Amino acid sequence: MSDLAQRLAGVPRLDIIGPPTPLEHLPRLSDFLARDIFIKRDDLTPLGLGGNKLRKLEYLAADALRQGADTLLTAGAIQSNHVRQTAALAAKLGLHCVALLEKPIDTPAGNYLTNGNRLLLDLFQCEVIACEALTQPAQQLADASLRLEAQGFRPYVIPVGGSNALGSLGYVGCALEIAHQCQGVIQPGAVVVSSGSGGTHAGLEVGLAAVLPETAFIGVTVSRRSEQQRPLIASLAAQVSEQLSLAAPAAEITLWDEYFAPGYGQLNDEGREAIALLARLEGIVLDPVYAGKAMAGLIDGLERDRFPDGPLVCSCIPAALFAYHYLETR
Ligand SMILES: Cc1ncc(COP(=O)(O)O)c(C=O)c1O
Repeated sequence: MSDLAQRLAGVPRLDIIGPPTPLEHLPRLSDFLARDIFIKRDDLTPLGLGGNKLRKLEYLAADALRQGADTLLTAGAIQSNHVRQTAALAAKLGLHCVALLEKPIDTPAGNYLTNGNRLLLDLFQCEVIACEALTQPAQQLADASLRLEAQGFRPYVIPVGGSNALGSLGYVGCALEIAHQCQGVIQPGAVVVSSGSGGTHAGLEVGLAAVLPETAFIGVTVSRRSEQQRPLIASLAAQVSEQLSLAAPAAEITLWDEYFAPGYGQLNDEGREAIALLARLEGIVLDPVYAGKAMAGLIDGLERDRFPDGPLVCSCIPAALFAYHYLETR
């Protein structure tokens, strides 16, 4: 474990999160499912209502400051958790923040268009540029970056979800944290995570392969199906490994597609039931886009005996905030 920690320590990082987030046992859910379930509480990271992106932003913002940037430029959906956390961090660091926002689902709901995370962007004084769709996000961000430079800003581009090789290092660190928290307490049979823009999955893939090699690792797709997601995660994991001078993980990437339909940001019955169950039994709020679907995968996977023996860790990041109109519009 210390070898990986040392490699990671060689990369500059801003300490924003502080002490490890809790790895919590969920006793009532464990009783209900007849298996010990733990959850990694990355919703409790301490800035802008928390979430997983702060782990990536610790590396990305350090790089931005090193390059002398005065603006964080990123992109995402109107209700993006990533954009919210980027905007909060920019505020904390005294940087300007600009976000390209797309509307990935066709809804007139005010709660989606102006409430929740979108409202917080205004509070954090993030400059929002609405765009039809992020069809070529890298190009759209590069174009926006040129426009900002022409206006005299020094922008630093953060990709959608903060999911490049540098940002994904945050989840290599999370794997180390999980392994440390499990040491002498549990030997997890499997870790389950939602696989969206992919940095969380890719970082954990590299980290867990190094520190918990006996533990199965499953990504539940929420943004695209596994034919497209697998090469994305494989490429990102290879870049993360290269950055740390490690061999890319040998194990095949496991992705479950069964909990994804009807599409990104659109909830299904299994996700809705998982959210209701966690709320009822543990008082934990899962978000409908990511964690609800990952937890649906964990619950159904147990029912269908898809996991090895041993406690399960849901590193599926209960969300701090998301437009809950998804739950209202059944
Ligand atoms: C609550 C939550 N869980 C999981 C994810 C997925 O992480 P990634 O985009 O790195 O795949 C996100 C991404 O926004 C998220 O907000």
